Amino acid sequence: MRTIIEPFRIKSVEPIRWTTRAQREQFLKVANYNLFLLPADDVLIDLLTDSGTGAMSTHQWAAIMEGDESYAGSRSFDQFFASVHDIFGYKNVIPTHQGRAAERILFSCACKKGDVVPNNTHFDTTRANVEFVGAEAVDLVIEEGRHPSVNHPFKGNMDIGALEQLISKVGRSRIPLVMLTVTNNSGGGQPVSMENVRAVNAVCRRNGIPLYFDACRFAENSYFIKLREPGYENKTPKEIAQEMFSYGDGCTMSAKKDGMANIGGFLCTNDDLLAQQEKNLLILTEGYPTYGGLAGRDLEAIAVGIQEALHEDYLQYRIASTAYLGNHISCQGVPIVQPPGGHAIYIDARAFLPHIPSDHFPAVALANELYLDGGIRSVEIGTLMFGAQAKMDLVRLAIPRRVYTQSHIDYVVEVILDVWQKREKIQGMKLKYEAPFLRHFTARLEPEVVAKKAFEPIGAAARR
Ligand SMILES: Cc1ncc(COP(=O)(O)O)c(C=O)c1O
Repeated sequence: MRTIIEPFRIKSVEPIRWTTRAQREQFLKVANYNLFLLPADDVLIDLLTDSGTGAMSTHQWAAIMEGDESYAGSRSFDQFFASVHDIFGYKNVIPTHQGRAAERILFSCACKKGDVVPNNTHFDTTRANVEFVGAEAVDLVIEEGRHPSVNHPFKGNMDIGALEQLISKVGRSRIPLVMLTVTNNSGGGQPVSMENVRAVNAVCRRNGIPLYFDACRFAENSYFIKLREPGYENKTPKEIAQEMFSYGDGCTMSAKKDGMANIGGFLCTNDDLLAQQEKNLLILTEGYPTYGGLAGRDLEAIAVGIQEALHEDYLQYRIASTAYLGNHISCQGVPIVQPPGGHAIYIDARAFLPHIPSDHFPAVALANELYLDGGIRSVEIGTLMFGAQAKMDLVRLAIPRRVYTQSHIDYVVEVILDVWQKREKIQGMKLKYEAPFLRHFTARLEPEVVAKKAFEPIGAAARR
């Protein structure tokens, strides 16, 4: 059969709420034109993030009932450790309340002021945590990964030459670790090939630098390797994930993505001394090392979730449904990051709205219009999120795992195409307030008031 269906049936449903455009105009004004500041009940289809928004399986809910809430030595930790160790293979597994807690602990223990941390592309919290300890976060994704319309099977790959150059420029002693983000979220959810992982590993080994994975979407990355990399077509996603992690020394993980859980994360390392320092810091801010800020039931849900994320029928549906959205809008001319990523479709807002310069936040303007037009919430990944460092201005439509059906996605396609027809009328945004870190979460903005003439549809003057 050619049709790829959702490999599950629905046992519990959650109503979503329709609003009118006039209501949404009011809601957006009150939210200071920042979609993070909207109440979720005022959103119809929420594609803000795939993080912590997935639906859990019957097996996960059953495991939750097995949760052992003991403060120390919980049985749920043993389940969690065994499942993580089975896939990731690292000696030390430290639970945390989510990915950024793992990042904060890793960078606080392993990095100091003046250090440099290379990554294919740092995610916003990763960059912020590196910079918070006074180190520099450097993005070294391959050239193809910087151009939205360029097609490449592994656009998340790290530029090996650039990594070697950086090491010889700053010296290995200033690089406490190299990171690889799989898949590369900020670069369009694009995968990293096993060949590239091996090449990064070889550079790290030669220079005595540990390699860590930002493993949030490790299962989706593994499936892309199976689909696209010669020699892996007959391996299971789990075998591929195990091989990938064998080339590293540890990882940070947000279990809110391919952990299929609504909360949680972990930090792994093979370095016992570092693990001890990390656990000491964990006790100070997260909790005892057998729960790390999570409930025993959360550990159980993650233990089951990371295994389910590697099921092949799930991954086939997951990757196909994301591509379905991307292909149905790009075939009508909407510029997206090509090829479609694993967890999200990224609209290239600079190409969608060429009349809005980057410092007028084209991706914020577009995300706001998608909300006004159809009640869809997406997120800007661009100049508001990364400031002058932003290489692109993207609107990310992240698909929660196992939540929306094909008709929801058909509706999203219809809204995007409607906005595409009206694109010349969309205006840029002005920043009214920004926080010193991660400003996109709390920024307050307003639409720019530009002379009416500037919004004339292209060709209007010629027709007069
Ligand atoms: C690649 C990547 N790294 C780290 C994080 C941070 O994880 P968390 O939101 O659980 O703190 C995210 C979250 O979206 C991410 O996508």
